[in-house]
Amino acid sequence: MATLPRYSNTQILLHWLTAPLVILIIALPYFDDFFASFLGGRGGVFTLHKSLGITVLALTLIRILIRIKYGAPALLPPDAIMQQRLAKLGHYLLYTMLLLMPITGLLLNTRPINVFWLFTLQPLPLSEAVHEAAEQVHVTVQYAFIVLIVGHISMALWHYLARRDRVLPGMLPLIKD
Ligand code: HEM
Ligand code: HEM
Repeated sequence: MATLPRYSNTQILLHWLTAPLVILIIALPYFDDFFASFLGGRGGVFTLHKSLGITVLALTLIRILIRIKYGAPALLPPDAIMQQRLAKLGHYLLYTMLLLMPITGLLLNTRPINVFWLFTLQPLPLSEAVHEAAEQVHVTVQYAFIVLIVGHISMALWHYLARRDRVLPGMLPLIKD
């Protein structure tokens, strides 16, 4: 029996490590009162936000290198040219956000970053104007990121529940052909 196209196990692992982390990173500042109660205050909320953000940056850099080397499987039918283009555009934009958000986070920072309560990273020696511009991008681009994520998850569920095609299984672990 022919093997159905799917992402490699490493790509699947990196996708499913990143997705919940990104959702938690966004939830932390929005529900800071809730998270502060068990992270030792608002400082703890941002320690975790920044630490997870740096983790996502590292995972994304590895993921992009793997993506450049091994590409992506063709999960959509070969004649669905428009769908393929839109999916590609959506994925490129998601990768752009996965880089832009943590990088602007690092650039906006003016104080030492406590990484997972383990060690500190010094802020980059940048002018106040750069910190402020990065902060503007960080707090504005989050909305585009949230819209993209909601659209992306909706498309994945639409493929799975309505089209019943192989798009979601192509990104799921432990699915047999
Ligand atoms: C995937 C990575 C990241 C995402 C999705 C993300 C997302 C967000 C969101 C949604 C907010 C709330 C903005 C608001 O109050 O409206 C925020 C604020 C903030 N983030 Fe991030 N962030 C990421 C990484 C980082 C990193 C790596 C750092 C620092 C090292 C950082 C530092 C901050 C700071 C200091 C704020 C508060 C900014 C302010 O209220 O002016 N973030 N981030
Ligand atoms: C914050 C959350 C998420 C982010 C940032 C994200 C990001 C991405 C990115 C960048 C890709 C492109 C992979 C590549 O071509 O190299 C992708 C693919 C995919 N994601 Fe997500 N994802 C998230 C959540 C989800 C969720 C919750 C689902 C399922 C309900 C999902 C289902 C898929 C599927 C099925 C693909 C493969 C699509 C295709 O190649 O046509 N993702 N995701």
